[in-house]
Amino acid sequence: MGVAWCTVFVVLVLKSVVFVDGGSTSSFVRKDEKAIDMPLDSDVFVAPAGYNAPQQVHITQGDHVGKAMIVSWVTMDEPGSNTVYYWSQNSKKKMKAKGMVTTYSFYNYTSGFIHHCNITHLKHDTKYYYMVGIGHTTRTFWFMTPPEVGPDVPYTFGLIGDLGQSYDSNITLTHYEMNPTKGKTVLFVGDLSYADNYPNHDNNRWDSWGRFVERSVAYQPWIWTAGNHELDYAPEIGEEEPFKPFTHRYHVPYKSSQSTAPFWYSIKRASAYIIVLASYSAYGKYTPQYKWLEKELPKVNRTETPWLIVLLHAPWYNSYNYHYMEGESMRVMYEAWFVKYKVDVVFAGHVHAYERSERVSNIAYNIVTGICQPVKDQSAPVYITIGDGGNLEGLANNMTEPQPEYSAYREASFGHATFDIKNRTHAYYGWHRNQDGYAVTADTMWFYNRFWNPENESTST
Ligand SMILES: *[C@@H]1O[C@H](CO)[C@@H](O)[C@H](O)[C@H]1NC(C)=O
Ligand SMILES: *[C@@H]1O[C@H](CO)[C@@H](O)[C@H](O)[C@H]1NC(C)=O
Ligand SMILES: *[C@@H]1O[C@H](CO)[C@@H](O)[C@H](O)[C@H]1NC(C)=O
Ligand SMILES: *[C@@H]1O[C@H](CO)[C@@H](O)[C@H](O)[C@H]1NC(C)=O
Ligand SMILES: *[C@@H]1O[C@H](CO)[C@@H](O)[C@H](O)[C@H]1NC(C)=O
Ligand SMILES: *[C@@H]1O[C@H](CO)[C@@H](O)[C@H](O)[C@H]1NC(C)=O
Ligand SMILES: *[C@@H]1O[C@H](CO)[C@@H](O)[C@H](O)[C@H]1NC(C)=O
Ligand SMILES: [Fe+2]
Repeated sequence: MGVAWCTVFVVLVLKSVVFVDGGSTSSFVRKDEKAIDMPLDSDVFVAPAGYNAPQQVHITQGDHVGKAMIVSWVTMDEPGSNTVYYWSQNSKKKMKAKGMVTTYSFYNYTSGFIHHCNITHLKHDTKYYYMVGIGHTTRTFWFMTPPEVGPDVPYTFGLIGDLGQSYDSNITLTHYEMNPTKGKTVLFVGDLSYADNYPNHDNNRWDSWGRFVERSVAYQPWIWTAGNHELDYAPEIGEEEPFKPFTHRYHVPYKSSQSTAPFWYSIKRASAYIIVLASYSAYGKYTPQYKWLEKELPKVNRTETPWLIVLLHAPWYNSYNYHYMEGESMRVMYEAWFVKYKVDVVFAGHVHAYERSERVSNIAYNIVTGICQPVKDQSAPVYITIGDGGNLEGLANNMTEPQPEYSAYREASFGHATFDIKNRTHAYYGWHRNQDGYAVTADTMWFYNRFWNPENESTST
């Protein structure tokens, strides 16, 4: 706590003195050292014991409203069973659901047997146990289903991006798990394993990543966004099918929102409506993603789901000297819609640092007016870059100076965030840096819902 207050104090003092142009650049300077991947024989990568034991167990929402869950796992020795047994906490009656199994090869790598099973007709707000690996070695896990969708349902999301599998990634995940603001579902903004940084995109690093994050994602759903490290496009070694490892390993409920591809889709969860967009799929006019989003935004009923959250990978507002303009063409296509439909917040990754924007828009431009400065706009979302999971590529610490006016807070540290919805009008957001104690927030903001409570927020930290 002491560290946080001290930082806040220093930042506020600095703000008035030095950074007259924008918000605050944190005075916290992280030790600059390269993030190193954990070696394959690390404790976090150990495969479970037993013949054909299910590994890399992970779950995600399976339908549009949270009454289904996709359970996925990998068996290495043989296909084994596709069946999941599951039962609610208050009932001894075991139910079962049958899934499917798939494999893929990538250059000279052949995957294990990847199982996906959609468990349906679940009751809301209920603890379920589930068991996978029927036949030889079984493993049992549990999850909570979300409450029924409704406007005042409190719910807490975690935010993690660009995680990878370095020692820093492990610290980020540990801090998320230990955060007293218990996240119930992770909104993951893309770039999962960084296997593509290895020679021939060594897909064993997809497997090790699956084992690493199992300790969280087997117990609570992670909502997936595709980043550039999911592309695995490598024609030089004959791999020309983009997203091959990602789409075989991670299923998402895209059909439930009438999407035609697993890279853009939506779900409702508690009082939130979450739209996942694809920075690396076509989004120009007439493309499937464009037509889908055009139809999707008017469907959001803020009386049912007050909180409208968008996830995408390449940020639209970014004041670091990395990935310049990479999110720009998508911003040009969609930003006016986000303002029109009053999106509450947009979470992105890609830039390996943290940044939170003011509510700004930049939609007035045309070639005649030449108006091309972002302006304060109370109908606009807050843009948050949370690409600070801690992957092996290290931190982005080179910032544009002076800090632009749209940038409210920025800091080059690894961390994670939580978005804690209280009711239809209020949500408490907090970003945590890995160097602090688990309960310490380094940047916070009370979000006022853009539909129910469109008042100016105080954005000072
Ligand atoms: C795949 O190829 C790489 C380099 O060409 C080699 O080091 C590795 O052992 C091969 N793996 C398999 C499973 O053959
Ligand atoms: C990863 O973090 C967990 C939980 O803090 C710890 O038990 C484990 O030893 C760590 N592993 C590595 C390789 O850092
Ligand atoms: C899972 O089942 C639900 C309920 O039948 C269905 O709406 C949804 O589309 C299914 N999801 C997947 C990924 O098959
Ligand atoms: C929006 O949701 C509310 C609450 O569920 C419902 O009463 C209303 O009919 C919905 N509006 C539309 C246009 O579907
Ligand atoms: C709210 O903020 C806008 C710009 O961000 C400003 O023009 C307006 O005066 C503010 N309103 C109040 C009530 O503070
Ligand atoms: C930071 O980025 C700017 C713009 O790309 C570049 O000119 C400068 O050399 C960089 N500074 C460092 C320390 O890398
Ligand atoms: C919504 O939550 C905020 C923050 O906890 C609280 O101040 C406010 O009174 C709540 N509104 C209602 C209607 O309960
Ligand atoms: Fe990225």
